[in-house]
Amino acid sequence: MIKILNNLRGTITPRLDLPFGKLSIEPGAALAMENDTILAIAPPETLRQQYPGAETIDGQNCWAMPGFVDPHTHPVFYKTREEEFEMRIAGKSYEEIAAAGGGIRNSVRALRQASFDELVALAYRRMRIFTEYGTTAIEAKSGYGLSLEDELKSLRVIKKLSALLPLTVVPTFLGAHEVPDEYRDRRDKYVDLLVEEMIPRVAEEKLAVFCDVFCEKNVFTVAQSERILLAARDHGLVPKLHADELHPTGGAELAAKVRAISADHLLKVSDRGIAAMKDAGVAPVLLPGTAFFLAKTEYAPARKMLAAGLPVALATDFNPGSSMIQNMQLILTLAALQMKMTPEEVIAGATLNAARAIALEKELGSLEAGKKADVILLDIPGYKYLPYHYGVNHVKMVIRHGQVVHRAGE
Ligand code: NIG
Ligand code: FE
Repeated sequence: MIKILNNLRGTITPRLDLPFGKLSIEPGAALAMENDTILAIAPPETLRQQYPGAETIDGQNCWAMPGFVDPHTHPVFYKTREEEFEMRIAGKSYEEIAAAGGGIRNSVRALRQASFDELVALAYRRMRIFTEYGTTAIEAKSGYGLSLEDELKSLRVIKKLSALLPLTVVPTFLGAHEVPDEYRDRRDKYVDLLVEEMIPRVAEEKLAVFCDVFCEKNVFTVAQSERILLAARDHGLVPKLHADELHPTGGAELAAKVRAISADHLLKVSDRGIAAMKDAGVAPVLLPGTAFFLAKTEYAPARKMLAAGLPVALATDFNPGSSMIQNMQLILTLAALQMKMTPEEVIAGATLNAARAIALEKELGSLEAGKKADVILLDIPGYKYLPYHYGVNHVKMVIRHGQVVHRAGE
């Protein structure tokens, strides 16, 4: 079945053949799709001649863009943590709250009590919001179970949701998100459990593509993180890393050493870390929503990474503790203002570079013939307007794999 998306203002997209952070803008173009795939971007008359019997979709005088790809989320949790938000307003830091038994361990205690069905229902409602704001693909981490049984439960919830929702969901095993309460006085034993039981089981059941670690002072050391990620690699899971967020630990260097697909956060990344990431082809995933939500004044040095030639990607980090947001459009504004990224760079960072950070750049992240027809329609006068007019939802329609899956107001 061929469909033509016409009556557009035009198309806005990065492309695989353009430098990182550049966009191709085609005013007046229309877009043809066959089933779940993009066929062509061309003037509407050309497409009408080429595909005479095609059905049309009214683009409502919007700009078409690739759906957002959000390459770092933690969507499977039970209760929310607004009481910690209030503690931060009163001056407590994220680390102080975590040291007092809050933070990730607070979410772990709650998730362990929740059933599979309860988690599916809750995460479903939260993840529908990604679609409303124009996200068509996410990476989704486990990490609030921290026992074999509860991590498997979380990954199965992710698998179930990827079948229920109009979203591509790439699963990541994050059993190394924190050391759970019962292992606080024998932390290496938890690493043994991860390496000897959890990783092999997750890989055997094919429940994850990536394995991530929260490598951070007072969480997992660089040595522990390396051990976990090498074990993951041995089992066919590709490493990812929460790196150099709160303290400079050498996380970016480790990401390069274990050939991680991405290193994420990077507020405290060193110049050596940036150079190592460039040499090893590690994608930086920056999460300005987290810096904002933790009330930080410092953000990741995006300009340095761009100057080094790295394909900077952006993500929400959606999670109940440090970034309660599904809206990539607001992330673009934060990235532009706080990390000095241009409108072109933030759009490329939230689409094609984000797809690179989850190894899906051949299928997703740009409007190009042969790629999946994941297209959003934005009611804006031009691409520069997108990060500029912030805090509202510019998305009028979401098409995923060639199907209209959301219309604003419906
Ligand atoms: O990416 N840094 C570790 N993980 C999350 C925080 C999770 C939480 O606080 O629940 C993050 O910011
Ligand atoms: Fe995270």
